[in-house]
Amino acid sequence: MKILLLGNQGQIGKDLQKIIANDNHVLSSCSKKDFNFLNYKALTYHVSSFNPQMIINAAAYTKVDEAENNKELSYQINAKLPEFLAKYCSDKGIVLIHFSSDYVFSGASIDPYKEDSEMDPINYYGYSKQQGDLNIIQNHDKYFIFRTSWVYSEYEGNFLAKIIQSIDNNNNLKIVDDQFGVPTSSHFIAKVVLDIINNDKTCFGIYNVVPNGNTSWYEFAMYIYNKLKDNDTNSIKISKISTDKLDLAARRPLYSVLDNDKLRNISKIQIKDWRYYVDQLLQKDNYIR
Ligand SMILES: NC(=O)c1ccc[n+]([C@@H]2O[C@H](COP(=O)([O-])OP(=O)(O)OC[C@H]3O[C@@H](n4cnc5c(N)ncnc54)[C@H](OP(=O)(O)O)[C@@H]3O)[C@@H](O)[C@H]2O)c1
Repeated sequence: MKILLLGNQGQIGKDLQKIIANDNHVLSSCSKKDFNFLNYKALTYHVSSFNPQMIINAAAYTKVDEAENNKELSYQINAKLPEFLAKYCSDKGIVLIHFSSDYVFSGASIDPYKEDSEMDPINYYGYSKQQGDLNIIQNHDKYFIFRTSWVYSEYEGNFLAKIIQSIDNNNNLKIVDDQFGVPTSSHFIAKVVLDIINNDKTCFGIYNVVPNGNTSWYEFAMYIYNKLKDNDTNSIKISKISTDKLDLAARRPLYSVLDNDKLRNISKIQIKDWRYYVDQLLQKDNYIR
């Protein structure tokens, strides 16, 4: 299949590029280095020259706190770009794959969020992602919206990388223990996307793409630390802190656990507990450090 990947320098984009390029597809991909995706003239030229059967949009404004002060930019990237892509894809009969976030939910639930749970974001990033989802749903039929959460990867800048960096630098940490979600590796997400591309391409809709189980950020940090402790690492103190003690610009949902039943029903991949994917990444020779 001819696939155009937008945003090949983000966490998910990098792993998608690697995984799809190793498979039997004709892949073209680009990033902000090539052109600003909000330049619709350049984007249209790029898309029409390649003439793909599928577009994967892995580009997004993902800085949750900065979004509070950069509302217009985050709205343009997270809400208007998906709208443009949905209209373009609908017009040309192209399948659109897009990523959404657990932050479209308020976190007030006590049960895992399903794909059709009501969206009620409590910060601007979540609002802009919600608008992106709605703009796709309203303008296209052949779409996959993959909602995910707490994404980490072998690349820099994510939670797992920051924990490892703190251990390496002997810095003690305070981590919130009152926010619950599902840590999800970008490699896992890329494998799920490839599985769907290669198998049932017509089961369009929204899917929660997360492993099984859930945890708090504190337990996630402790899990990483305990896994690395045996490898001659520095001993650091990781203590608990509550979210209200942090001075963050954006509010966080306290419970953003996504239910993956719908995904498990269509996926040919056997989906495992979130810890399995952390172990997999930490076993890699070339992760982060
Ligand atoms: N990270 C998470 O924990 C998380 C959780 C739930 C859902 N998601 C969703 O998953 C998707 C991918 O997330 P990710 O973690 O892979 O994000 P990421 O690492 O921040 O990657 C996003 C990419 O989009 C690019 N981009 C932003 N604005 C652009 C523009 N105007 N033109 C071209 N490229 C642009 C960014 O480039 P620059 O860096 O150069 O701006 C970056 O390379 C997003 O839809 C996100 O909302 C992520």
